Amino acid sequence: MKPSHVLNLLPLVAASPAPVHPHPGFGNRPQPAPGLGDLAKKAGLKYFGTAVDNVVLDNEKYTSIAFNYSEFNQITPANGQKWMYIEPSRNVFNYTLGDQIVDPSKDAGQLRRCHNFLWHNQLPDWLSHGNWTKTALLSVLENHIKHEADYYWGDCYAWDVVNEAFNDDGTLRQDIWLQTIGPEYIEHAFRFARKYTSPGTKLYYNDYGIERVNNKSVAIQQMVKDFGKRGVPIDGVGLQAHFTVGRSPSYTEIRASQQLYTGLGLETALTELDVRIELPDNANKTAAQATVYAESVRACVDEKRCVGVTVWDFWDPVSWVPDTFPGWGDACLWDEGFVRKPAYYAVADMLRKAAGGRKGE
Ligand SMILES: *[C@@H]1O[C@H](CO)[C@@H](O)[C@H](O)[C@H]1NC(C)=O
Ligand SMILES: *[C@@H]1O[C@H](CO)[C@@H](O)[C@H](O)[C@H]1NC(C)=O
Ligand SMILES: *[C@@H]1O[C@H](CO)[C@@H](O)[C@H](O)[C@H]1NC(C)=O
Ligand SMILES: *[C@@H]1O[C@H](CO)[C@@H](O)[C@H](O)[C@H]1NC(C)=O
Ligand SMILES: *[C@@H]1O[C@H](CO)[C@@H](O)[C@H](O)[C@H]1NC(C)=O
Repeated sequence: MKPSHVLNLLPLVAASPAPVHPHPGFGNRPQPAPGLGDLAKKAGLKYFGTAVDNVVLDNEKYTSIAFNYSEFNQITPANGQKWMYIEPSRNVFNYTLGDQIVDPSKDAGQLRRCHNFLWHNQLPDWLSHGNWTKTALLSVLENHIKHEADYYWGDCYAWDVVNEAFNDDGTLRQDIWLQTIGPEYIEHAFRFARKYTSPGTKLYYNDYGIERVNNKSVAIQQMVKDFGKRGVPIDGVGLQAHFTVGRSPSYTEIRASQQLYTGLGLETALTELDVRIELPDNANKTAAQATVYAESVRACVDEKRCVGVTVWDFWDPVSWVPDTFPGWGDACLWDEGFVRKPAYYAVADMLRKAAGGRKGE
């Protein structure tokens, strides 16, 4: 779902001095401290985080926010740990792009959700164009997980082990993994991940469109149940939460979909939250977006086993949305001038109200 920006350099918007942004309920707040990470911890979450892509690392205004522990105490490499960059030729590993995100986030003391071991997208040509037998592809998969897990040993709070394996109707996506290995490729990936990651690393299945109880989220629940019966290791389900103003799931729906998994003892997280707007933006849409952000975060805060929320970048100019959904955008918490939007303050306000104990407990 997320085409890489790595090979597709964006012109970076120069940081302009940010005017104080008027926002409902707070008057003019010149100092947003404490940041969302601090507030999330007070509200009982482990983290509030963001995805970070390699293309913006030369923008100091951007990195001063991304690697500010108070604002974000968790980072997900948006692209840097994907297969095409990590293993560009068979058994040749290159961790440069992963390290560009992981190293500064370690320096900042942030947690990391590492992303990802297995996906149908952003695979290197040698892999997607190979004529694999089942045995050979399984050994390619094991070798990849073994090397990447070993290299990032101890660095990852969680790994997205398998990303986006299901179709919306609840069937498995027809891709090289399913076609070559069969449906058991998923459990193989989880077993390899448990074998090679550091003890305690949380192993996640991650997908979009599962923030309601629907065929897809229920199919994933069936998989988790089956894994539980047969001892296949899995610790969490990531709900990506790529939302659209006017069509987003409600608080109640997000709670109910998480309970498909928390009811089986797994943890959940909102792993890629963003809320896109049909352009041009206006004050009403921005206000509606603020409500969707706050209600989504509240649906995690109130869910005892939801550990945290990650936004899929915090700055509009690096969002994947405009490239993927022409005519849509402005999906992030900071606008192109690095001004915090009403959605930022709505999330902060919600977290402040939740401080001191989770309502769902
Ligand atoms: C980090 O973010 C917090 C919250 O927004 C802010 O108060 C603080 O000044 C920031 N620190 C730096 C070094 O920018
Ligand atoms: C590793 O990846 C980086 C970033 O894409 C690239 O600049 C570098 O040339 C690669 N190293 C090798 C040995 O291919
Ligand atoms: C793929 O491998 C099979 C079995 O080794 C072989 O019969 C077939 O010709 C190969 N196909 C291509 C396109 O190389
Ligand atoms: C959901 O699955 C049922 C069968 O279990 C099927 O009848 C229905 O069409 C599916 N709905 C969607 C939206 O795919
Ligand atoms: C915003 O909503 C108000 C109240 O519903 C309406 O009167 C106004 O025309 C809307 N403005 C825009 C720009 O859509």
